[in-house]
Amino acid sequence: MVGRNIGLEDFKNRRLFQNDVVGQFSIQEFFLNVNRTLHKSYDSMLDIRENIARFIMEALENLKSKESVIVFGPGSCNDIPLDLLAKNFSQITLVDIDIISAQKAIERLDISLRSKVLLKQMDISGLGKLFTRIQDLSNINASASEIESALKSYECESIELLPDINKEYDLSISSCVATQLTTPFFTHILKDKYINESTYKIITSIARKAAFNHCYLVRKHTKDTGFSIITTDIFEWGHVRNNPVSLAIALPSLPEILSFHEFIEEFLKKYSDYMLAGSTILFDIGTFFNNIVARGWYWEIENTIQSYRLYIVIGALLQPKLR
Ligand SMILES: C[S@@+](CC[C@H](N)C(=O)[O-])C[C@H]1O[C@@H](n2cnc3c(N)ncnc32)[C@H](O)[C@@H]1O
Repeated sequence: MVGRNIGLEDFKNRRLFQNDVVGQFSIQEFFLNVNRTLHKSYDSMLDIRENIARFIMEALENLKSKESVIVFGPGSCNDIPLDLLAKNFSQITLVDIDIISAQKAIERLDISLRSKVLLKQMDISGLGKLFTRIQDLSNINASASEIESALKSYECESIELLPDINKEYDLSISSCVATQLTTPFFTHILKDKYINESTYKIITSIARKAAFNHCYLVRKHTKDTGFSIITTDIFEWGHVRNNPVSLAIALPSLPEILSFHEFIEEFLKKYSDYMLAGSTILFDIGTFFNNIVARGWYWEIENTIQSYRLYIVIGALLQPKLR
């Protein structure tokens, strides 16, 4: 460890890691760039695909119908066992803002299975108008206070976001999307010029609402007799370039024996200040779902001399609560 005490407070700087994409991109271009950096991770993420596959198999054992499955935020399907889905369901719908990466994932499938997959390009954050407004303000070099008041004026947009796929699925999967809906693109638009403690606080509260809306969206598109799988990255740590940090001593290590309920009550509440914005979806799950089983794992997303990043991820197999 270098020279100073590293502790939980260091997690609060994690947003710096999300600011790597230079230039000013549209939301599609932004996530295409992010996903491109992950495309090469397919082989190294085998164990994570196996974790999701285990949830899928558990759902399959209990599903009456295996007609349809929807995946929110598949990206390059590094963590989604697309072949397992294609072999077991008649139709697979993939919804992402970046469908170029998802298209590449489809090309990994056996040719006989590819026609089962439907791709939908869509912004599922419900923040589209706000993104545009903030991007416009940033482009004209608006003042920090103008940006802040525009962020504060945010009202939840209606969540009827999927008009052309407005149906219920036997299985719905949201895989590490909740933390991506708000903070990454805002920090990209605003960069260090506008991001300060105050704006970050507002963005974090928007992320909390967007995560709740996302949980609602996943429930809405799941049959009462179906299942959902929600996974989310909850803590991120690592080091960048000339700021090597050994965070091992600061880590909240994953509890092995807690139930999902205890995990939320005893573990997450303790560390809630350090959770990634949007991973609060774990607190929202109980509103819409009963949890059947939850498991955690580590996702080493980057490991180079220059930078190292690791997430703790929690995944849960869920049964929809009746409406
Ligand atoms: C961290 S990735 C999830 C991991 C991904 N399943 C994989 O295997 O690499 C998050 C995904 O959410 C998508 N996403 C982010 N914001 C979105 C939005 N507003 N609407 C739709 N998809 C979005 C990104 O394009 C990306 O594919």
